[in-house]
Amino acid sequence: MQSPNWQRFAFRESLLRQVRIIYNNEQYIGKQLAANLFNQSGVFVLPAYTILTAEHIRLISQHGILLEEHDVVHLDNAVYYQLAVDECTAAMERIFKQLHYTKSRRLPMFELRGEVLPFIQQVSEKNDFFGILAALQSKDDYTYRHNVAVGILSTLLGRWLKLRPEELGSLTIAATLHDIGKVMIPAEILAKSGALTPEEHALLKKHTTYGYEMIRDTVGTSHMQALVALQHHERMDGSGYPFGVQGHRITDFSKIVAVCDVFHAMTSDRNHRPAAPLYEVLRQMEDDVFGKLDPYICRVFIGKLMQSMIGSDVLLSDGRTGKIIMIPVHDPLRPLVNIGEDFIDLSLRRDLGVVKVIP
Ligand SMILES: [Fe+2]
Repeated sequence: MQSPNWQRFAFRESLLRQVRIIYNNEQYIGKQLAANLFNQSGVFVLPAYTILTAEHIRLISQHGILLEEHDVVHLDNAVYYQLAVDECTAAMERIFKQLHYTKSRRLPMFELRGEVLPFIQQVSEKNDFFGILAALQSKDDYTYRHNVAVGILSTLLGRWLKLRPEELGSLTIAATLHDIGKVMIPAEILAKSGALTPEEHALLKKHTTYGYEMIRDTVGTSHMQALVALQHHERMDGSGYPFGVQGHRITDFSKIVAVCDVFHAMTSDRNHRPAAPLYEVLRQMEDDVFGKLDPYICRVFIGKLMQSMIGSDVLLSDGRTGKIIMIPVHDPLRPLVNIGEDFIDLSLRRDLGVVKVIP
């Protein structure tokens, strides 16, 4: 018969092995399985091409499988962004529907932390604005994809604003949940293709207070995150809703999310409005710096975004096409453009402008 000491030793060893497996496997969250996955007894665990969430990692670890590099595929960035954003959008749709049907007002933070946030963090770490932007274009799932898009864009912007890592993590959650109050709004209003009646518009505006209450009443969230749901439609000049408060009473997180919310809404096809060209959106946002959006946050967003356009081809208002060479810090929407042998400094040529970026 085995001694109790030996049993204790064996138990400790198996526990340590399990911890090592989990620790190793967690680095593969967000990666895609290269082939069907079986455990050592040949039991089928997961199909090929599964994008691994925290839940999958738990399952794989329970089967005692130690993942290795050859178990996952290394995807082209564009394919990876699309798969990751689609996966997050599907998870957000499940969370919205679960809340809607169960009439629960407590958010499933466990699912959110396991199935949505790791992908958002990984995608935003790539710092590849235009690559990511293509994956954020909505199909017929705007309500869900918009939350994911604002989560990714706000995390990018938060990093550009040099937030500390713990602040960035908190901002990602707040931004991803900013419109969660829409689960309380009738689906007919969210999906309506024509203009809303004043009554419907008043009801839609309530998603801010509903969202605030839901986040406030959920364990594991902060007051700052609830305030983002409440304030992301407030504007610096007091023209926003629900309370019409002015800039000094709006939190920095809410101001960051407001910039990304406006940007993604305007660059997306929505029920009642087609997407506006990127350059037009940026020009509109620059105008909104005076009064509506926080000027510093908005300028950092536009400036960094324009920096990532260096090397892109653009169409000018006189019909010529050229390449962006340099972005002036003081006037980022009027870059230096190269056409053939010429260099045109748009910050000096006020008669000319960029009409659109050529993909
Ligand atoms: Fe909103």
